[in-house]
Amino acid sequence: MIKRTERSGMENDMSISPLQKARYEYAPKLPGMLRHGISEICMEIGEATQSAADQEKIKALFPNTYGKNEIVFKKGVNTSEAKKQVVGVILSGGQAPGGHNVICGLYDALKATNPENVLYGFKGGPSGLLDDDYLIFEDEYINQYRNTGGFDIIGSGRTKLETEEQFAVAAEVCKKHGITAIVIIGGDDSNTNAAVLAEYFAAHETGVQVIGCPKTIDGDLKNEDIECSFGFDTATKTYSELIGNLERDANSAKKYWHFIKVMGRSASHVALECALMTQPNVCLIGEEVAEKKMSLSQIADYIADSVEKRAAKGMNFGVAIIPEGVVEFVPEFKALIAEINELLAGEKAEEFNALTAWKDKYEFIRNGLSKEAMTVFEILPEGIQQQLFLERDPHGNVQVSLIESEKLFSGIVSEKLAQRKKAGTYKGKFNTLHHFFGYEGRCAFPSNFDSDYCYSLGYNACMLIQYGCNGYLSKVSNLSKPAEEWVAGGMPITKMMNMERRHGEDKPVIRKALVELDGKPFKYFEAHREEWAENTCFTYPGAIQYFGPSEVCDATTRTLALEKG
Ligand code: FBP
Repeated sequence: MIKRTERSGMENDMSISPLQKARYEYAPKLPGMLRHGISEICMEIGEATQSAADQEKIKALFPNTYGKNEIVFKKGVNTSEAKKQVVGVILSGGQAPGGHNVICGLYDALKATNPENVLYGFKGGPSGLLDDDYLIFEDEYINQYRNTGGFDIIGSGRTKLETEEQFAVAAEVCKKHGITAIVIIGGDDSNTNAAVLAEYFAAHETGVQVIGCPKTIDGDLKNEDIECSFGFDTATKTYSELIGNLERDANSAKKYWHFIKVMGRSASHVALECALMTQPNVCLIGEEVAEKKMSLSQIADYIADSVEKRAAKGMNFGVAIIPEGVVEFVPEFKALIAEINELLAGEKAEEFNALTAWKDKYEFIRNGLSKEAMTVFEILPEGIQQQLFLERDPHGNVQVSLIESEKLFSGIVSEKLAQRKKAGTYKGKFNTLHHFFGYEGRCAFPSNFDSDYCYSLGYNACMLIQYGCNGYLSKVSNLSKPAEEWVAGGMPITKMMNMERRHGEDKPVIRKALVELDGKPFKYFEAHREEWAENTCFTYPGAIQYFGPSEVCDATTRTLALEKG
């Protein structure tokens, strides 16, 4: 029986559901080579690495951590130095299912290596390290979080660790506690910062190592080594269950078109995976929109074509998936946003805010925007027009992520259909419902895949620490195969980096992995979408299964299955 504890200092008033109780008993599967006990894990040094691009510049910025070798763990005699480890762990950025298991895997490996090892959890994200706000993990506390979703074990945050001053504070905090390594569980930005921190620690000979773990439901932290970020599997399965349910409802009632926005700040991996799982009538892919330089009007026509063809067959219902980040990929929309940001810069914002009636504000906008931008603005439904001007960040910029793009597209499709009705080409009905699936998936109980993968990432991170690695991402690959065949090792973070312009400066950053239009997942979707658009080919994935046959409970994403064959 697992008892609650006060020792952690975290709030602890969880009631335990029967599933949670059952999931405590789940023993996550490790890669075969990590299953023989700590003393039987040896390290094999692989090839030296290069950054993804801009090699000379990245090398100059990371003189101590650039170009290191790939690492693979094997069964064999553990030759690492026997030394007591005091490790700090941080959860950074948006929640992703499985984060708790990364910490559990790290903790278990540390304790199995030496019961004297200590794991600090810095609370509330990277700021916890700067504020020296922490808890020390113990069995009683950590056991409550095994195989559960969320980041509530220590909390998360979006503070960026990026300045020399912050690094100096981090070094002081590490010194105070005798910390030998920091594990940062985060996405592309957090792992970029992990790489910079690792370089700082090496350059200042602090003796502190930094290891990253690839997290984000967005699925955009990947390359040939990191096959997928954790959380993507569970989040997409959760959304796909809900989309499948809506498809079944649509097919039962036969009277609604459901416009569903799915999370994914920029890349469309989540939308694509959900489409592969549920076979909706329409799914937009931001990267394709950008590649084909599609306008809002063209996108609306594409969706309206599906509505019209289905209506002609008597099917006035359907499902369209809209990726959260898609509008930023529409070139004319991007230009409009840039003009709006300019229009409301400085004092002009006050002048605009002083106007009370929307018609006066509209006049201000008409006078301020270029003809091209105004043409795009006029296409938008009024609710979206107002959103663009009302919901702005503290710097006055439009908050693109808050735009209700599901309503934007259903609105302009509705206009298109009205025109077609007038022209006599369309005779159907178009009743819409809107949904946004985002936060619903980020803290779900991790699937078996994410439970296993995350536990392995944490366990493996301990091995990287033990073998003295710094500036590495914990890497577990061969993920489309059963866990027994997974390969554990490490990849220097600089391997993922290139130079990008950020806030007017060239910065070394991890290159975001967008949907590849010549990749197998997109090609599969492209080959089938016409049929899905006209007919009803919905598939209903149902809820994530935790118990039962392996083909139901342990399957990876379609994306990974198609990519890895
Ligand atoms: P990370 O990149 O930190 O993993 O977060 C991704 C994400 O879940 C996006 O999908 C979404 O756009 C964003 O976070 C939402 O952020 P917030 O939690 O701050 O509302």
